Amino acid sequence: MTVDSPYPEMKKGHTMARVGRPWRDRKPPPSGPVWAIVQGFGSYWTLVAAIELGVFDAIALLGPTSAGPLADRMSVSARHLQHVCDALVTFGFLDQVDDVYELTETAERYLCTDGPASMAALVRVAPGPLANWEQLADTVRTGHVAQPIDDDPAAFYRPLVQATFPTQLRAASRLGLRLGWSRRPDLRVLDLGAGRAPWAIAILEQSPGSTAVVNDLPGVIELAVRTVDDRGLAHRVEFQPGDFHHIELEPGSFDVVVLGHVCRTEGHARARALVARAFQALKPEGQLLLADYFADNGRKHNPFGVQMGLTMVANTERGETLTNAQVCRWLDEAGFHAIRLLEPIGFNQVYVAARPAARPASGPHGRPMEDRHDR
Ligand SMILES: C[S@@+](CC[C@H](N)C(=O)[O-])C[C@H]1O[C@@H](n2cnc3c(N)ncnc32)[C@H](O)[C@@H]1O
Repeated sequence: MTVDSPYPEMKKGHTMARVGRPWRDRKPPPSGPVWAIVQGFGSYWTLVAAIELGVFDAIALLGPTSAGPLADRMSVSARHLQHVCDALVTFGFLDQVDDVYELTETAERYLCTDGPASMAALVRVAPGPLANWEQLADTVRTGHVAQPIDDDPAAFYRPLVQATFPTQLRAASRLGLRLGWSRRPDLRVLDLGAGRAPWAIAILEQSPGSTAVVNDLPGVIELAVRTVDDRGLAHRVEFQPGDFHHIELEPGSFDVVVLGHVCRTEGHARARALVARAFQALKPEGQLLLADYFADNGRKHNPFGVQMGLTMVANTERGETLTNAQVCRWLDEAGFHAIRLLEPIGFNQVYVAARPAARPASGPHGRPMEDRHDR
């Protein structure tokens, strides 16, 4: 029988090398990590409720307030609202002093509807449909997602790309400052799986005279059409609806090709094929921007990337974790060089890679000029 005593005497021969970590039999570990996961469920739905009720927006309007006036303003139960607000304090989204609640900077920036980097709409849609998480064990048993988002991509992606637009536009705009788009006029851009086209829009807004071909599925591309129009860029954009694996792309005709958060839902073989398609579509010296949420190569040091991979497995037919090493290998195999990884905003990493310059025409002995003096 195993006796779970908090401080049994350590055995004489106990060493790390021979018996393992001493606390395994000296002192049991705390249950905190298990409770953290159990309560994580409640934390998530508390945040969803707070956004749905408009708690953050209401406090932004009222300023520092106690639960009573806040509940009056929102026409909700003050007792219940106070419990929600107390939980939001423990998450770091509200401060509370003497029963008066105030927004933290995190809430102002990310959780108010008109915050400068609002994720308010994203919180509900980012994990995918709730039913897929409830059925994760079945997905693992059978190897199939019962209702993958691939069955009706437009229904899932329309609200998703509405919600991610502010974040991705910010990432793309910051990237543009690093890559100097304002000093590179007249670029021809291809944005595959563009959503509301944050990446193409950021380039066109920074690079004078540039034009873009924007692709997405029918049912989603209409959102790009509207957003591009709202930003006064319609005359510089051509829309190409359809599946990015099959639409016709003129080879060697783009200065920049964007794969913005499309690879992780595709599975490795199709993502690799997309990278190769992007290479073919680029002009020599053209640049690929491949943005995604990557996991570290050992799939354990970057929990955000690992969790994103699991989210893909829970919700899509083929999607899965993308490690940095995998993506680098695909880029290399496709022929890209000058591969860099940039992180314009937290967690949002972008591989920037170039198609090599064209080899000059053959020299007098039938060899490319650049090869004549090599070795
Ligand atoms: C996660 S969103 C990314 C949107 C945008 N690129 C961004 O970075 O914000 C993925 C987009 O890819 C589109 N998509 C998915 N499969 C596609 C396919 N086979 N062909 C074209 N677009 C596709 C979806 O409709 C959606 O707009």
